[in-house]
Amino acid sequence: METTTVTHKLIAGNWKMNGSLAGNEALLQAILAGLDADTAAVDVAVCVPAPYLAQVQALCTGSPLAWGAQDVSEHEAGAYTGEVSAAMLRDFGCRYVIVGHSERRRDHGESDEAVARKAQRALACGITPIVCVGETEVQREAGQTEAVVKRQLAAVIHTVGHCVSEIVVAYEPVWAIGTGRTATPEQAQTVHAVLRAQLGAAVPEPRRVRILYGGSMNAGNAAALLAQPDIDGGLIGGASLKAEEFLRIVRAAV
Ligand code: 13P
Repeated sequence: METTTVTHKLIAGNWKMNGSLAGNEALLQAILAGLDADTAAVDVAVCVPAPYLAQVQALCTGSPLAWGAQDVSEHEAGAYTGEVSAAMLRDFGCRYVIVGHSERRRDHGESDEAVARKAQRALACGITPIVCVGETEVQREAGQTEAVVKRQLAAVIHTVGHCVSEIVVAYEPVWAIGTGRTATPEQAQTVHAVLRAQLGAAVPEPRRVRILYGGSMNAGNAAALLAQPDIDGGLIGGASLKAEEFLRIVRAAV
């Protein structure tokens, strides 16, 4: 029987297209000041706009705060104007990169296969891809939630093979992102259990693959979500832009 459990939850901020040199410095200093011996039991990261990676690297190297990017090219290098490669992210010390966020699937037409190739590129450079999956409201109402998230994750499993044990999954119901409408802990747990079972068919220790919840997670609802057996952390949008709120979520994960 597989008994290994995930030891550290992961709380990752997704700043999206927000920030400035001055604002980032204040936010990061406040987050760093709030990380202490208690929060050492939680992995904490911020995923920032690519132009600010050098700033975050300079401020956070040697600290308990890891960082990452919000997207990566599916190509290795070459004539891909505007793209950022996984090797470049590695140069700037990224531990994580978000791939397949619903805003990129929606606004940039990213297919399941493209998302899978991005995850593969990240893994090849030693960066952990945070693979986002999630259904739209229409899909949920049509009873397609399970099929949609399984299809999205299956593409990644198919492409990266046994390396799927190295990824992080983020369940982000599209209808809950930026809307203030969080999935209930039970709704989220139901989908997380489906994803865990799917991982279980691909890797020997599926509990070691962290499955984050994202979508209007905040200091008020984090504890109930994080108490669910298959919720191993959070991917936080708006609430990650306020240091005290973000830190309260981190403390809820201890
Ligand atoms: P919000 O927390 O703002 O709903 O955003 C969630 C999200 O998309 C994180 O990737």
